[in-house]
Amino acid sequence: MALYEMRKFVAPEFIFGVGARHRVGYYARNLMARRVLVVSDPGVIAAGWLGEVQADLAEVGIESIVFKALTPNPKDYEVMAGAELYARERCDVIVAIGGGSVIDCAKAIGIVHANACHVRAFEGADQVEIPGPPLICIPTTAGTAADISQFCIVVNSDERYKMAIISKTVVPDVALVDPETTLSMDPYLTACTGLDALTHAIEAYVSTASSPIVDVHALAAVKLIWSNIDDAVAMPGNMPARENMLLGSLQAGLAFSNASLGAVHALAHSLGGFLDLPHGECNALLLEHVVRFNITEAPDRYQQIGNSMGLDLRGLNERERAKRITDEIGALRCRLGVVDSLATRGVRSSDIAELASHAINDACIVTNPRRVTLADIETIYGEAL
Ligand SMILES: [Fe+2]
Repeated sequence: MALYEMRKFVAPEFIFGVGARHRVGYYARNLMARRVLVVSDPGVIAAGWLGEVQADLAEVGIESIVFKALTPNPKDYEVMAGAELYARERCDVIVAIGGGSVIDCAKAIGIVHANACHVRAFEGADQVEIPGPPLICIPTTAGTAADISQFCIVVNSDERYKMAIISKTVVPDVALVDPETTLSMDPYLTACTGLDALTHAIEAYVSTASSPIVDVHALAAVKLIWSNIDDAVAMPGNMPARENMLLGSLQAGLAFSNASLGAVHALAHSLGGFLDLPHGECNALLLEHVVRFNITEAPDRYQQIGNSMGLDLRGLNERERAKRITDEIGALRCRLGVVDSLATRGVRSSDIAELASHAINDACIVTNPRRVTLADIETIYGEAL
């Protein structure tokens, strides 16, 4: 019997480091761009990052059209409007500068344009036939890693849930991962996006599709995020903490893009689409409950995660280890300001059946280490209420 299962690892070309964003003109020119659609949002524009990108493009003679009519948790109709603008303006390359919402919207605009169909047609794994036009991503948060991942999340506005589109065709061509762009995040956004990245690392490491290459990145990410997130939130201008958070987010992204995720994300996608809550906040509120549910199925893997969190788990039995790890995760999110529970965000116990009906069909549930039933999902939502 083989020691390792056969696994594929996909990652785009990326540049990591201060100043990486200024390579946008170079890469756009290499991709033969003449007229670029730049996807961004009002917060990023106010921080000045969009202006810089447009100036860098203009310097090499490339025109740019801006699409910014999108909201956090991008909606299907916003994607369709962006694709219409891309076609109308005869653009040939897309640049996304922003957080996960901006990047996911840009990815979806590209595949809608290339395939000439509605974005809802792509829901699930491997449902995209033709890749979009060339895409350059510049993340401004340290969390989603949408800039390097095979994931694209868009809200189905009729049914109010997030569709997970998972396809190699949505991996960007280039990611310019520049820690300076994360300085414009406020402490709460830093906390939520950082906890999203931590969730990516944990879910990828315990995923049934993990691999030795995934493991290296996942555990490195847990360590980087766990030891830097407090400083990044408490001291927004602390560059070493910002750099390490972005590196942690990048490594967590390499891990989850290839190993997929688990029940935290399946439940968070349903929740985030239902209440339009920040994605990282949803994950943070669910993580400790899903870890408690999963831990008996993969105790050794969770022990490794605990070790990477810097916990001394020696001498503890399995039940004590589980309690220690989930207590620490819960304490971290509270310390970072993600307090209370789902009920305080407006979830009622009568909503749980509908939330669970979407979560059970989310593509992320497939790789959860423990088999999850509809009743299990309802129980986890109930515990997080
Ligand atoms: Fe996530």
